[in-house]
Amino acid sequence: MSDLHPAASPAIETAVQNVLSEARADLEALVRIPSIWADPAHRDDTHRSAAAVAELARAEGADAVEVVSAGEGAPAVIARWPAPPGAPTVLLYAHHDVQPTGGDEKWTSPPFQPTERDGRLYGRGAADDKAGVMTHLSVLRAFRSLEGGLPVGVTLFIEGEEESGSPTLPALLAEHREKLAADVIVIADSSNPATDVPALTTSLRGLVDCTVEVSMLERPAHSGVYGGALGDALTALCRLLATLHDDKGRVAIPGLVHNDSSAPDLDEATFRSDAGVLDGVELIGTGTLPERLWQQPAASVLGIDAPKVSEVANVLLPSARAVVSLRLAPGQDPLDAQRALHEHLQTHAPWGATVTVTPGMVGAPFALDPVGAVYDTARRTFAAAYGNETVEVGIGGSIPFIAEFARTFPGAAVLVTGVGDPASRWHGIDESLHLDMFRRAVLAEALLLTELGGRS
Ligand code: BES
Ligand code: MN
Ligand code: MN
Repeated sequence: MSDLHPAASPAIETAVQNVLSEARADLEALVRIPSIWADPAHRDDTHRSAAAVAELARAEGADAVEVVSAGEGAPAVIARWPAPPGAPTVLLYAHHDVQPTGGDEKWTSPPFQPTERDGRLYGRGAADDKAGVMTHLSVLRAFRSLEGGLPVGVTLFIEGEEESGSPTLPALLAEHREKLAADVIVIADSSNPATDVPALTTSLRGLVDCTVEVSMLERPAHSGVYGGALGDALTALCRLLATLHDDKGRVAIPGLVHNDSSAPDLDEATFRSDAGVLDGVELIGTGTLPERLWQQPAASVLGIDAPKVSEVANVLLPSARAVVSLRLAPGQDPLDAQRALHEHLQTHAPWGATVTVTPGMVGAPFALDPVGAVYDTARRTFAAAYGNETVEVGIGGSIPFIAEFARTFPGAAVLVTGVGDPASRWHGIDESLHLDMFRRAVLAEALLLTELGGRS
């Protein structure tokens, strides 16, 4: 334990240490389930994953464990442990769904076969966010072994469609509102700047995406016979997509919110190496890196449907489509941003091409002011667990649940905590969890709950 923060109780530290090997085995079992809710072929797996989480909650003596869903939505798990008299209730959030693998053959070890190398556990979901799920369950387990048990009431809420933009979350929250009410909410789904530096995430960007289809011809046409007088749909699509940025790489869609940031700039060399940027590649946009990454919009093209290079037939393509993703600055109304994006795409296609826009996900950004006793407690307990002061960070990614939850329960304090680090490769090839950071994350949350319950 750090000399800086001698307050941490050795009994909790021992209790956490004692649950880690079982937690590791449970995490591996969860990672083996390919809970890619967005892929219809993995719906059953996502149901199995929810059932596995529910079983783990039952084993920790939850009062009530339910697997719930709204309409055709993904299965979420709600489990509750009652509050000791006078103690607050804390909602612990994580998600059990994961992103697709991006090509199993590109991974060093198979994505759903958890594998340890150099102190990290590799596998899809090992960090995002099955580590969050197991952080919460490990804390519950550690308290079970301690005299006095849990210091606070706990509601565990493990979502199953976060990676799909949480489309049925508003319905779920409405239906289970009373059960989910809490004084404090802990979201273990963000990132720390280093494996020994704890962070409180104070802002996240929102997201809207869409599929844009450009159509030019009734059918493919010979590229030699007609090319020169006729354009092709893929070139038209590329020209349309090129209008999303100005020459400096800033988002060129009018009317979007851009904020400044007073956060100290990040080190560009570290940023480049964390992201795997090739030599000579320029960064895009203007302003400090925290501004560009956390406080300004970003536009990206995430996929294109077009013929494979190996299958080209020397024809002008009649149509082509792409997924365009827009990250939104804190303070941006996501529906306004969606309208601006659609309007921009509808009005910038070249050559009179027909444009069809199909809306996709919509997730609100979020920002909070980490002021008050709960945040002070979090800063202190996290510092004690990690041995370094707690820092505040923004995140360029999105967790639509947070704004939705904060809107439903405006009085709750929101703590967004980290189970990832810059090497975690969230959504990428070879995603991984730093195992010693996982231990610190469990200890940090255990210390937090202890102090929130008035025991220290
Ligand atoms: N846990 C991530 C968000 C995140 C990523 C936080 C990296 C901190 C560091 C979350 O699971 C996520 O990926 N969200 C999606 C939301 C989208 C599908 C609406 C995202 O940001 O792409
Ligand atoms: Mn996540
Ligand atoms: Mn994710």
